[in-house]
Amino acid sequence: MNKKTIESVNVSGKKCLVRCDFNVPMSGGEITDDTRIRAALPTVKYLMEHGAKVILCSHLGRPKGEFNMKYSLKAVSVRLSELLGKTVIFANDVIGEDAKAKVAALKNGEVLLLENLRFHKEEEANDKEFCRSLSEFCDIYVNDAFGTAHRAHASTAGIVTYGFAPVAVAGFLIAKELECLGGALEDPKRPFVAILGGAKVSDKIGVINNLIDKADTILIGGGMAYTFLSAQGKSIGKSLCETDKISLAKELLEKAKERKVKLLLPVDAKVAKAFPDPIDSDIPFKQVDIDAIGCDDMALDIGDKTAELYGKELRSAGTVVWNGPMGVFENKNFATGTYRIASALAEGKCISIVGGGDSAAAVQQMGLGDKMTHISTGGGASLEYLEGKVLPGIACLNDL
Ligand code: 3PG
Repeated sequence: MNKKTIESVNVSGKKCLVRCDFNVPMSGGEITDDTRIRAALPTVKYLMEHGAKVILCSHLGRPKGEFNMKYSLKAVSVRLSELLGKTVIFANDVIGEDAKAKVAALKNGEVLLLENLRFHKEEEANDKEFCRSLSEFCDIYVNDAFGTAHRAHASTAGIVTYGFAPVAVAGFLIAKELECLGGALEDPKRPFVAILGGAKVSDKIGVINNLIDKADTILIGGGMAYTFLSAQGKSIGKSLCETDKISLAKELLEKAKERKVKLLLPVDAKVAKAFPDPIDSDIPFKQVDIDAIGCDDMALDIGDKTAELYGKELRSAGTVVWNGPMGVFENKNFATGTYRIASALAEGKCISIVGGGDSAAAVQQMGLGDKMTHISTGGGASLEYLEGKVLPGIACLNDL
């Protein structure tokens, strides 16, 4: 990584404003997955141990610029206190009187968490005055919010690009994400296999385009496979198809052929007559070869032959990047494909990088998280990184 990190600066006695991504899933006021809070611990602990005044900030959900108790970060401060074994002081506002007083009283080695940044519409609007106010809490700006690094918001980029935080460095989480994702893209152990799933081709075009130049093999699953199969002239029944993307799918297939990249599509599928509603309902299904999808069939998972074929590729891979589930994994009848891919990765010896979002959730749900080399904390951010895009939250940091 060509960016300075917290280890490049003297943080002792300094107010370190740390942008974290504490956008964690919540249900009934309870945190249901604290992965992102745990992922921030190395940076927070380092700053505490090195005598910094640690001021953490984050968004949670999309409260649209208004205070809403549902999106308060209070529960995060409680969880973080438990994980650190030390009280995390909580400010009831972001740049208001409570935050100002608590920052002023903060001692070296203490940690304070500000309330949800997105209670101010100025955060997402990247408002200059809001950046200026935030910078009053900042001798050193630390970005450790990899999951939000694709947003050019006040706390992720504006505070630096407007010139209010001349010392701007990466935390350990961002450094680790870049090392893993960047390492896979720039210097992969070969064969380099990308496995891409999820519902829509349109969400993954950028990634496929970028990976076609780098990967040896691309395996396609999930709903997006059916736009490709349709582009090959197959009958896909009622399966998901983005008709306006068929010509693009043809181009991508052609491009893969030209570059001699092995691009594999499902050879069989689990099909039902309709999408399960509710999503976890136990609906009848059957397994068919890809050429035998009936006109009223909807493919909802890869079949066993495909899982076997893809598993073989994954077991002999050097590096695998995985983004997107193979089917409707929220339903047990259509989770097998995704499960078998996760198992193949867990059994193989390859470097396995799982992009955030649904594929990360699937791996965790299957209890295989600790078998992967790296699970990204970024959904949209890891996708944009894999597309080869510049992430504003990283680009703004001080170069080495
Ligand atoms: C995420 O969960 O992907 C990040 O926290 C970004 O959230 P956002 O999509 O609401 O900006």
